[in-house]
This record gives sequence, C-alpha cells and structure tokens, in this order.
Amino acid sequence: MNNRELIEKLKNERVLSKTEFTQLIGTYTKKDREFTAKLARGEADRVFGKKIFVRGLIEFSSYCKNDCYYCGLRRSNRNAERYRLSKEDILRCADEGYELGFRTFVLQSGEDGFYTDEILCDIVKSIKNAHSDCAITLSLGERSEESYKRLFDAGADRYLLRHETANTEHYSKLHPDSLKAENRQECLRTLKRIGYQTGCGFMVGSPFQTAENLAEDLLFIKRLAPEMVGIGPFIPQHDTPFRDKQKGGLEDTLFMLSLIRLMKPNVLLPATTALGTISPLGREQGILAGANVVMPNLSPTEVRQKYLLYDNKICTGDESAQCKECLNNRMKSIGYEIVTDRGDYRN
Ligand code: 5AD
Ligand code: FES
Repeated sequence: MNNRELIEKLKNERVLSKTEFTQLIGTYTKKDREFTAKLARGEADRVFGKKIFVRGLIEFSSYCKNDCYYCGLRRSNRNAERYRLSKEDILRCADEGYELGFRTFVLQSGEDGFYTDEILCDIVKSIKNAHSDCAITLSLGERSEESYKRLFDAGADRYLLRHETANTEHYSKLHPDSLKAENRQECLRTLKRIGYQTGCGFMVGSPFQTAENLAEDLLFIKRLAPEMVGIGPFIPQHDTPFRDKQKGGLEDTLFMLSLIRLMKPNVLLPATTALGTISPLGREQGILAGANVVMPNLSPTEVRQKYLLYDNKICTGDESAQCKECLNNRMKSIGYEIVTDRGDYRN
C-alpha cells in the first residue's frame, strides 16, 4: 500500500501493523504529513471542538536519584541547581493557578526520595481541600504499587509516566542498567489498574531511535490504551552524556502527534513545551496536527531556571499569568480557545 492509503487505513481502522507503521514513519513526505495533520485535526475537532484544555504545571523538586543519559536533572549533573518546594509553596502555586482559571494541576518532580508518601498525600489532600473542583495529576516517576495506591486514595486523579521507548534494547541505550523498560511498563499497567487516568509517552528523535522503534511506541500505546499521551522532541542538554546528539525534528514530532490522534481520537494529547522550544510556533503547529492540551508553567519564577531537562527551555522567565495569557493568545491566533474545565478523559 502507498502512504496515502496507509493513512486512510489508519483513520478507518485505528491501527496499522508494525511493518505498515514503520514504512509510513520511515518514508512520509511533506504532503503525507500535511494530509495526516488535516485528518487528525478533523478528529480532534469532532471530539473536542475548538476547545483546548489547559493544565498548570508545578515543577516542585529538581532532585533526582536517577541518571537518564538525556535528562538535565540526572543525579550526575553537578551543575544542576537543586531546589525543593515546600507544601506551602506548592499550595500557593495552586491558589494562584486557581485564580487564573486552572482546574488541573500537574505536580511534577525528579525521583526525589525526600517526598515520602505521607508528605505527598498531605499535599494532594490539601490541594483537593482548597479546590475540590480541580483534578490533580502526578508525574513523579516510578514508585511502588502501594505508593501509587495511597496517592490515589488521597485524591490524585491522573498520573503521567512516559514509557520513553517501548523497545527494551533502545531503552537500555537511554538509561543506566538500574532502570528497566519492563519496570516502567509494569508501573503504567499498575497505574491503570488502580484507576488513574494514565499517560505514557516518549521523545521523538531520541538518540539511536529508528522508525521501527517509533512504530513499536505506537503499538505499545494501542495496547496500553492510556487516557493521555505526552510526546515531544528530544533536545540535548549541555551537561548530559547526550550533549552532542542531534535534536529531534519538528516535522517528525508533528507527524507522530497526528498518527497518535488518528489511532486514539479521544486521547488527551498535549502540544508540549519541548515542541515550543524547538520552534517558535511549535505548539500552535502541534494543535493543528491534532493535539488538544497545553501545559503552561505555574512554578515560582525563581526556580524555573533550575528545572532544565533540556537546553533553551522556553517560559523560564515568565510569570504564571504571562504564560497563561501568552498561550491564550497563541490558541486564539489559530482559531482555538483555552477552556476552564478539568478536562477529563471521556470515552
Ligand atoms: N529532551 C526532551 N525531553 C526530555 N525529557 C527529559 N529530558 C529530555 C530532553 N533532553 C522528557 C522525558 C521525561 C519528561 C519529564 O521529559 O521524556 O519523561
Ligand atoms: Fe530524573 Fe531521568 S534523570 S527521571
């Protein structure tokens, strides 16, 4: 089948074989990409209309016990400035976000042992107490099933944990031996089983990635059936082992967004900060390729320059209100509107 036929088949059947996905990802043209984006945006418009969900991101700790080769927060990075926000700091961010109209807060950190289940449950409960109409998303990396359960019972609604790459061998080229693809995938299945709205995801153009790997990522997503998928281009960070690796491509990322939308029409799919970092209009293009979520930063301005997963991250100098306003305008410029809504997954 030619690429055009494969794209139509994907729209109709919501899946392709690994060989078909690999062909499409390995050989797509600009025309193929634009055609796919149009279909994908059509699907997103059908499900969500012209509305874009917004999530307030609170990056509350830059400490991490892991050593991923791509990430600026890796523990071996002696140049990273580390910080931790207190419960009061975090609550202040959430209050400010609430005033700005946010109804979902994403609490994200490195894997920081300082935050025990007890501390985290208290934070989750306090936010829920103050703002009962809000959803809480956690993005804290790998934890035990027991811990995931306790946090869920404390009121957390969603959990983001990118699988990074579905291919075990590729995974081991991006991570030290202490981190295993199987573990990561098991965590995701556990999160789903507990009842979280669960998000997986990967970087596009990460070192050593092949078209076949991306096909495997898509089929992994199909199997897991997550409620959310987060993808963005790999961007080298100057204090990591991957400092000299090539960054991921804008077009490739847009194309992957569209394929994911065609595969899962109602999935919650952000146009990420990384996409906005590699290109000034990356996030707008991401929406037009089928994304339906944006995640402006709500972290206190003083710490933003310290949460540097990759180089040249945007929005690190802005106030929360500026980020919200900026994204509002960006969405309006392409005919979309940010909505104040928890933005839950709907079947
Ligand atoms: N470039 C792009 N994305 C990155 N992440 C970590 N480091 C980088 C980088 N250098 C992504 C990972 C992680 C998420 C929080 O950020 O996919 O899961
Ligand atoms: Fe923190 Fe990878 S360096 S999770």
